Amino acid sequence: MKAVILVGGKATRLLPLTRHTPKSMVPVLNIPFLEHVIRHLGSHQVKEIVLAQGHLSQPIEDYFGDGSRFDVKLHYAVEDTPRGTGGAVKNAAGHLDDTFLVLNGDVFTDLDITGMVAFHRERQAKATIALTPVEDPTAYGLVETETDGRVVRFLEKPSWDEVLQRKTNMINAGTYILEPDILAQIPPEREVSIERETFQQLLAQEEPMYAYSSSAYWLDMGTPERYLQLHRDILDGKCPRCALAPDMKVVIEKPGNVHPAVRLEPPVVIGANCSIGEGVRLVGPVVIGAGSTILEDSLIENCIIWRNARLGPRVRLKDSILADNCRFGADTIGEGVVVGDNVTVLSGIKLEPGSKIEPGTTIG
Ligand code: GDD
Ligand code: MG
Repeated sequence: MKAVILVGGKATRLLPLTRHTPKSMVPVLNIPFLEHVIRHLGSHQVKEIVLAQGHLSQPIEDYFGDGSRFDVKLHYAVEDTPRGTGGAVKNAAGHLDDTFLVLNGDVFTDLDITGMVAFHRERQAKATIALTPVEDPTAYGLVETETDGRVVRFLEKPSWDEVLQRKTNMINAGTYILEPDILAQIPPEREVSIERETFQQLLAQEEPMYAYSSSAYWLDMGTPERYLQLHRDILDGKCPRCALAPDMKVVIEKPGNVHPAVRLEPPVVIGANCSIGEGVRLVGPVVIGAGSTILEDSLIENCIIWRNARLGPRVRLKDSILADNCRFGADTIGEGVVVGDNVTVLSGIKLEPGSKIEPGTTIG
């Protein structure tokens, strides 16, 4: 079965991290998010994938190429203007002729795709939507079902009143199996939301649309808080597919220059060729991208740092995310900061807690 992955959104909620990096190239444990998704598909024998792209498509093609490095075959369907989630599927239609999967490109999940395909076929469904429970459904698509799993209502971004009325917290988990004749229903050459338009049409036509409820690990990593949460969850072993072995709570990917007098409090992942100076304390979860240098006596706690950072000495950083090539001078203090690529902070600066710093900025 082929899959379409929607990777063309603007990712505004992850700005400034996504100013120059598409959401699907944002690193998770030092590899692009999308690589995790593609490997998951591959593990369920889904080996032919169309990447439905718009915004910032080139970095994705440069990294993934024809997919052979990942043991899959990749096609690219690039929109000239954003077509929305339904329009993006329509734009990929030239590659689709049989039952196919659609995945939101920002969902990290351990969903049993093989089981979902079998379920779709047993029910002879026109469309099957994976569901997952969440605490606050208002940021998602709420799906109401009959006891046999048939979908009766789909409410995108419901109000709390609507959630309470429906008495369910099951939301659209962003994985669909669709029959190819649905493609003919999606109008070409314009923006179409699959959630607000296509699914509503299928319901109105009383087409067999089923929900596949799953309690597998699931997270939409579309905000900085959830991006940090994803790392915490994976490193805590909540997603079995990618859990680190219990005796590997500190991972140094390719030893660079880690001083013997550092304190690594797990879980900690240090990318290739990093240099960690004397007296540095890393309080997990901490992930440090390849080629980074952390100078003496710095304290880094619950942070995700991308490639080629140069921080310290005596930097103190907590609950923060730094994109590629950040330079923080001596004694910088930051808490809850989200920092775009190529930001320089001169020595002795206390950053505004929770601030978001645009790429290329120099502070101080
Ligand atoms: N190619 C393309 N073109 N992709 C797009 C476009 C577009 O115009 N717009 C959005 N996407 C991609 C995004 O990159 C993302 O991977 C996916 O479609 C979903 O878009 P989001 O913007 O992340 O939507 P959401 O998170 O608010 O809501 C969606 O996902 C929830 C689950 O995470 C909906 O499908 C909800 O119903 C669902 O519950
Ligand atoms: Mg999303």
